[in-house]
Amino acid sequence: MARDHFGRNIHYLRISLTDHCNLRCVYCMPEDMTFRPNAELMQDDEILRLTRLFAGLGFDKIRLTGGEPTVRANVVEIVRGIAATSGIRSVSMTTNGLLLSRLAKPLAEAGLQRVNISIDSLAPEKFHRLTRWGKVEDVWAGIFAAEEAGLTPVKLNVVVVAGYNEKDVIDLARLTLEHPWQVRFIEMMPFAGATELQVSRMVTAAQIQEWIEAALGTLEPANGGKLDGEARLFRLPEATGDLGFISSVTRPFCASCTRARLTADGILRMCLLREKEVDLLTPLRAGASLDDLRQLILDAVWDKPWGHGLSEGTIPLNRVMSEIGG
Ligand code: 5AD
Ligand code: SF4
Repeated sequence: MARDHFGRNIHYLRISLTDHCNLRCVYCMPEDMTFRPNAELMQDDEILRLTRLFAGLGFDKIRLTGGEPTVRANVVEIVRGIAATSGIRSVSMTTNGLLLSRLAKPLAEAGLQRVNISIDSLAPEKFHRLTRWGKVEDVWAGIFAAEEAGLTPVKLNVVVVAGYNEKDVIDLARLTLEHPWQVRFIEMMPFAGATELQVSRMVTAAQIQEWIEAALGTLEPANGGKLDGEARLFRLPEATGDLGFISSVTRPFCASCTRARLTADGILRMCLLREKEVDLLTPLRAGASLDDLRQLILDAVWDKPWGHGLSEGTIPLNRVMSEIGG
């Protein structure tokens, strides 16, 4: 089992399959983003070798992220390999949903268990303005395809950006009245690539909750008031689904954080909001022994930070969000 020096048991690995994406969300990357050449990314067999290594250290939960994980060639086969890895109990994915109408079923058959789908507005023009390239109908089709394929419970991620989609949180929250979904509102975090917008247009989770309560009534705490992963859960009166608030900026969830991240270029990052990284792919390619690689991972886990530096104005600028995997 991998523990850090605060005693946290680190067993959840988020693997970015690619930094590429078929959208250009304003809070994530510039429109003229350049991506890494494929040779710099972990190859399929390298992903599976590293997954086996992590599983051997007690990691049992994997989430595939990006960029956009579904644009990765062979994504279905990669999922199959990860799901079949001894010790891995849960495999999920965070996606923009655009390709799910085609991929939900094969992914589910390959062993994917759940998806989180990003949808920041239900209004076509606003969705397009936020994502620069997206059509909300495609996401909608993806959500239903995910449900039909049994990738449930479906969770929807909403990043709220002042001047873009504040008003839309009400309609998004209303979805839970009829659908057994978890709609999660996420505070925008600052990274390289879109820092100015991320800082100036951030909306707090408390503010979002206030707007929803003013429009739709007082929320009841769900899940016994406990965090579900990083989300504080609530329910609207008479709702079938839950609302989640992810206040990574104003109320970080470091005490319950069990995660590590592997970037698409094979670098281990122990905190999304801290720049410190440990390269695993270079030693793997240079023929490092399994023991050496294990030690690199255990040392990085041991040193996992606690608390981000945003309040002191320390913004992680060494990578854009899509390279780290959200
Ligand atoms: N702050 C918060 N969430 C972000 N995401 C992308 N960029 C940011 C940001 N700057 C979200 C996406 C997706 C997940 C991968 O991370 O909307 O839901
Ligand atoms: Fe792509 Fe997700 Fe970034 Fe949007 S937030 S550009 S969908 S990686």
